[in-house]
Amino acid sequence: MQKIAVLTSGGDSPGMNACIRAIVRTSIFHNTEIWGIRRGYEGLMDSEFVQMNTKSVANIIQRGGTILKTARSSRFMETEGLLVAAQNLKEQGIEGLITIGGDGTFRGALALQQHSDIKIVGCPGTIDNDLVGTDFTIGYDTAINTVVEAVDKIRDTAESHERLFFVEVMGRDAGLIALRSGIGAGAEAILIPETPTHIDDLIRRLEGGRKDKSSKIVIVSEHDDAGGAFAIAEKVKAKLPYYDTRVTILGHIQRGGNPSCMDRVNASRMGFAAVEALLEGRSGEMAGIVNKQVCFTPFEKAVKHLEELDQSLLRMVEILSL
Ligand code: F6P
Repeated sequence: MQKIAVLTSGGDSPGMNACIRAIVRTSIFHNTEIWGIRRGYEGLMDSEFVQMNTKSVANIIQRGGTILKTARSSRFMETEGLLVAAQNLKEQGIEGLITIGGDGTFRGALALQQHSDIKIVGCPGTIDNDLVGTDFTIGYDTAINTVVEAVDKIRDTAESHERLFFVEVMGRDAGLIALRSGIGAGAEAILIPETPTHIDDLIRRLEGGRKDKSSKIVIVSEHDDAGGAFAIAEKVKAKLPYYDTRVTILGHIQRGGNPSCMDRVNASRMGFAAVEALLEGRSGEMAGIVNKQVCFTPFEKAVKHLEELDQSLLRMVEILSL
């Protein structure tokens, strides 16, 4: 391949820049021209191509966000948009494309492949960790560390005021951010979309255990079936009026910040592997890391993220929060 391109799409995640850096430098090592596409699929339809070199990715491994910018695009899911994108790639002479993003990005890649003969390899970039074919997506480790740091701070004030806090975290329809960060922060309960939430059970848990606990923290994953953190807090307050409750929505701070070492290393390995895979002629697959080994998973499978959650972890949370 003479010419390949890279884009980031969907929600940004810490470590995307480390991945771009690996892709650019590996391509140059293999004497392949590497082009960046700004603003994801939106920029692809608007022909926002920019040639990259080793210097364009200097000093970015430590930076959060994505130097290529990103976007969510509904236009790209229409046939018209896909045809424009395919034509732009052809005119630019791009033979291979690396897409860094989450399930929406890979669904977009699948659609593009139906309208073009471009070869596409993906790298999993999302804080949600909701893709099949990799133990950890790029950004997940940083995001859970951000949550733990924030909850540690909330714990200080919760202890002083003897309060019950409901902390809402991101994850879309996956509870993996909530689960890991909740364990790491020593939460009293973790509510996730994968398991039904019963307010009476939650109350039983909050009332059970040590009576002399000064503070209690419930981590609520967005899109929990009992509602968001505010709605759940209200339902609990109605039954336990003597609790002094507060709600914190962590929001987009979870998507920013310098990537952790683990995210930088995983992103570098995946970006490096994605270029070599493209050059070997692979297409339609996502590069991931499972059991420390790089592996490839077809996009169709990667986006099916409703894998069984490790129920033993939830049981452990109940026991450890006594
Ligand atoms: O997919 C990443 C994510 O941060 C989700 O956890 C969250 O639901 C969503 O993106 C928020 O997207 P936006 O920034 O477009 O509001």
